Amino acid sequence: MGKRIPALIDVKIPGPNSGQGFDRFQYGDFCVSQFPVLPMIEPVMTEIRNAQAFDALAIASIYAEHVRSGTASFDTIPRKAEEMAQKISGIQARGWPFLVAERGGEIVGYAYATQFRDRPAYCFACEDSIYVRADRTGLGIGSTLLRELVAAATVCGFRQMIAVIGGGEPASVALHSRMGFAHAGTMRSVGRKFGRWLDSVYMQRELGEGDSAAPEREPG
Ligand SMILES: CC(C)(COP(=O)(O)OP(=O)(O)OC[C@H]1O[C@@H](n2cnc3c(N)ncnc32)[C@H](O)[C@@H]1OP(=O)(O)O)[C@@H](O)C(=O)NCCC(=O)NCCS
Repeated sequence: MGKRIPALIDVKIPGPNSGQGFDRFQYGDFCVSQFPVLPMIEPVMTEIRNAQAFDALAIASIYAEHVRSGTASFDTIPRKAEEMAQKISGIQARGWPFLVAERGGEIVGYAYATQFRDRPAYCFACEDSIYVRADRTGLGIGSTLLRELVAAATVCGFRQMIAVIGGGEPASVALHSRMGFAHAGTMRSVGRKFGRWLDSVYMQRELGEGDSAAPEREPG
């Protein structure tokens, strides 16, 4: 087994829908073999691309793991692949980003941004959701996905991004802090899962011009 050294490669690849400039990215790390004489270095690439309907099963499976074992989501029952497929198409139909991370031909994580709340005045604020396959955490995949989601949500015109972190999961707090999010509040004991009361931790960062300038259009 080799030792992984994260994020030494950062290659941007224009994709077929590259009008917005963010539809395909590849990142990588190296798997350094411990062969005693000649160390072999093989690139292990992470590609970020827009989610497709056929990714729904893998996405549902990643989400199910975290629903069953973690507090990041306040869902207690996993969602079906069909529901995930509808979510992908619904989010993309609104022009919002739904990205997947692919590594070695497998979907290892996903992230999407949706309007924070439905009312029109919230139209410049989005909420991110991000999940990495449980056996692939700690490899930089979450950071890569969130970096691209921030870029994509900025292109969409969102000015603020908010993370609502169930149970204040330490990995999610660390990830969002790393990506420039600041603590924006904690709602105490609003959730109940695994026989425990759970807080919701809010973190927030600006996108693009943030609130330093008015948007080009006002909400209708
Ligand atoms: C949160 C999550 C997306 C992070 O993905 P990841 O691929 O492991 O993230 P990275 O490897 O890019 O690590 C990001 C940062 O988090 C830190 N981190 C990772 N796991 C951690 C843990 N269990 N505790 C504390 N910090 C942790 C890393 O050290 C890194 O910080 P650093 O660069 O300053 O060292 C992933 O753990 C996950 O899917 N968790 C369950 C779902 C969830 O919490 N989603 C967020 C909902 S808002």
